[in-house]
Amino acid sequence: MSSKLDSQYWNDRYRNAETGWDIGYASPPLTNYFDQLTDKNKRILIPGCGNGYEVAYLLEKGFQHITVIDIAPELTAILAKKYAPNVGKELTIITGDFFEHRGNYDIIIEQTFFCALNPSLRTQYVEKMFDLLAPGGKLVGVLFNRAFEGGPPFGGSREEYENLFAKTFSRRSIEPCYNSIPPRRDVELFIRMEK
Ligand SMILES: C[S@@+](CC[C@H](N)C(=O)[O-])C[C@H]1O[C@@H](n2cnc3c(N)ncnc32)[C@H](O)[C@@H]1O
Repeated sequence: MSSKLDSQYWNDRYRNAETGWDIGYASPPLTNYFDQLTDKNKRILIPGCGNGYEVAYLLEKGFQHITVIDIAPELTAILAKKYAPNVGKELTIITGDFFEHRGNYDIIIEQTFFCALNPSLRTQYVEKMFDLLAPGGKLVGVLFNRAFEGGPPFGGSREEYENLFAKTFSRRSIEPCYNSIPPRRDVELFIRMEK
């Protein structure tokens, strides 16, 4: 494992096209969830957004308050170009560390961000998510239900997540994900944590 999963590390992964996590399109567990949202004014945050294919989907569906944050500056520069017409309007793109971000959101989306972080940060991740959510806000998305050798990605199990989130979120749902992409079928959990 790289000891320092910092901005340089992630920037290099994009620069060297070592992006095995990147599926190239908005993922079905997330788009199906977005399709159930009727209020397009919900403030949505996508931390560790990567190429952020979900952003295009949300914009197309008319969502008005989308924020993405990623620690890799060359990546966010690409996103800023790609989404230039929307930046400063429906979309805010932030280059920086999620753990230093301040804000207030109705929905925060998880997809291969948790597993990219050093496992020593897991409690901090949960607490930070809780802080960033407005009352009634939700952390929603997918987590791996499997182990990996080395990492990132760093795996985990339903039991581990249950224990981890229970310390902070009293309203929790962790279920097998029924609409994962084929390579992740049966090894993903769909989570909903409500503040
Ligand atoms: C495994 S990638 C996943 C990207 C995207 N979620 C996807 O599914 O394609 C992890 C992402 O998290 C970003 N990242 C890692 N640590 C971060 C941090 N502390 N704050 C913000 N972004 C971070 C990386 O730059 C990378 O884009």
